[in-house]
Amino acid sequence: MPGNDVLCVEELTVSYEKTSVLWDVHFKIPQGKLIGVIGPNGAGKSTLLKSVMGLLKPMSGEILFFGKPLSQVRQRVAYVPQRSSVDWNFPITAFELVLMGRYGKLGFLKWTSKKDKEAAKKALALVEMEGFAHRQISQLSGGQQQRLFIARSLVQEADFYLMDEPFAGIDIATEKVLIRIFEELRKEGKTILAVHHDLNTASDYFDWMLLLNTCVIAAGPTREVFTPENLARTYGQSSLLLKEAASFIAKKSQGDS
Ligand SMILES: Nc1ncnc2c1ncn2[C@@H]1O[C@H](COP(=O)(O)OP(=O)(O)OP(=O)(O)O)[C@@H](O)[C@H]1O
Ligand SMILES: [Mg+2]
Repeated sequence: MPGNDVLCVEELTVSYEKTSVLWDVHFKIPQGKLIGVIGPNGAGKSTLLKSVMGLLKPMSGEILFFGKPLSQVRQRVAYVPQRSSVDWNFPITAFELVLMGRYGKLGFLKWTSKKDKEAAKKALALVEMEGFAHRQISQLSGGQQQRLFIARSLVQEADFYLMDEPFAGIDIATEKVLIRIFEELRKEGKTILAVHHDLNTASDYFDWMLLLNTCVIAAGPTREVFTPENLARTYGQSSLLLKEAASFIAKKSQGDS
């Protein structure tokens, strides 16, 4: 039943010039889960997110959010790109940057209401950046900018968040803060999909996973799909990362039994 899936992708093939980087990708994302997208560099993770968000034109494929094309449900879907597409030298404050997340709903910053400002304040507090509200964005560290970027997506009050490597370049304390925010959103029935590289934390963070390498290697509940066999197929047998992950999973499963 399409109505229960926040995202349904069928037969998605994407090429840059003549090379296909996604090939016959199909999967469904259920509502109310924290989903990890896992795969090596160049696997097509960012390409997948850009394609479903309509930023790249696929060669073929059908993409439905909440059973509808994105254009009909845009406000329910928030997207945080891998590297901030914001010009960090732009002369605005942290507060204003977050407020811009309401743009989709508003059109222009000058029309922001009290409610919008409250939402921006709340989002800044959530990422523990309220002390920096009036700081120019150019005068923030990389990790602080990343927190702001996430706050900017939170004010959109979407039902489905797609985040491309939200933990890149942030310290472990901030990572834990963000994971707690994601867990709170999940409790509210929202769905969060995040590209993630650290296999050691992946199974703790995510209850559902999409293993990707040009095509979908596996998609489903973490305990079913996060297996040494599937990781071998995703990363290739010789990968050092894979060996680490396999030994980690082996240790973990011994601990569970
Ligand atoms: N604009 C582009 N033109 C041509 N090739 C591209 C372009 N963008 C990405 N690619 C290629 O497509 C493939 C998939 O790239 P993509 O950025 O989706 O990978 P990724 O899984 O997000 O990797 P990473 O973990 O490094 O972020 C790579 O081989 C990359 O070199
Ligand atoms: Mg990427």
